[in-house]
Amino acid sequence: MTVTRPIIAMPDAQTVTEIRHWTDRLFSFRVTRPRSLRFRSGEFVMLGLMGDNGKPLLRAYSIASPSWDEELEFYSIKVPDGPLTSRLQHIQPGNQIVLRPKPVGTLVLDALLPGRRLWFFATGTGVAPFASLVRDPDTYERYDQVILTHTCRHADDLGYSRDLVAATMDDPLVGEQAQAQLSYFPTTTADESAQMGRITNLLRSGEVFQALDVPPIDPVSDRAMVCGSIALNTDMKEILEGFGLREGSNSKPAEYVVEKAFVD
Ligand code: A2P
Repeated sequence: MTVTRPIIAMPDAQTVTEIRHWTDRLFSFRVTRPRSLRFRSGEFVMLGLMGDNGKPLLRAYSIASPSWDEELEFYSIKVPDGPLTSRLQHIQPGNQIVLRPKPVGTLVLDALLPGRRLWFFATGTGVAPFASLVRDPDTYERYDQVILTHTCRHADDLGYSRDLVAATMDDPLVGEQAQAQLSYFPTTTADESAQMGRITNLLRSGEVFQALDVPPIDPVSDRAMVCGSIALNTDMKEILEGFGLREGSNSKPAEYVVEKAFVD
């Protein structure tokens, strides 16, 4: 007697729908969205691939797509020897990834008190949660002005955020609000560009305020979210607290929130 084994779907499997390689170190990909998944813009989920041992190899990835999107988008670096990204960078449309549909995180609007101006400070792939937040109508309803800063070494590394901002300005849902309320402030630290230097130094010197024609950050009107390396986050905390902002959380909203950009 032959026994036919039922085909059991991999739990939490999602199908890759699109991949885009931005540079030899950066790529973004889109996957199908689990029907049950509800998330707040700025949150992250655990995703990855099945390992040879039959166990999933998962890492934290911020959801870069807006919460109204039918699919989910992620933005990742490629670490040559990274256990996950060395494999993940080769995924193709139709492949399956593992995604645990339990979104969490502190880079959410609910963790901030109301204010007039909202700053997003990102380095590298830390821009991913803000890619979700700049396409959320709530962001523009809660704040009059939204400023996205993105610091990378090379001009090419800014391609994802440059395209994001251009697409957001044209977006049928938030385009009109974004055109009136969103400013983009890209800076590079290695390549020549219109605005060079670490955002931390540009804040300390005040150049960023001059360039954007806004008053210096103050705790009455300004709110901030930070996502980058541990060093960036530590430096930004000191700078923001120097301006009088206090760190908030989901349970105790305040003037700024920080999260580490997740890397392999
Ligand atoms: P820099 O080139 O001066 O180190 P990485 O690729 O290491 O994640 O860095 C991405 C970007 O973040 C780079 O432009 C880098 O600048 C910048 N960066 C790294 N650490 C800090 C920090 N502590 N404060 C501000 N910017 C930083």
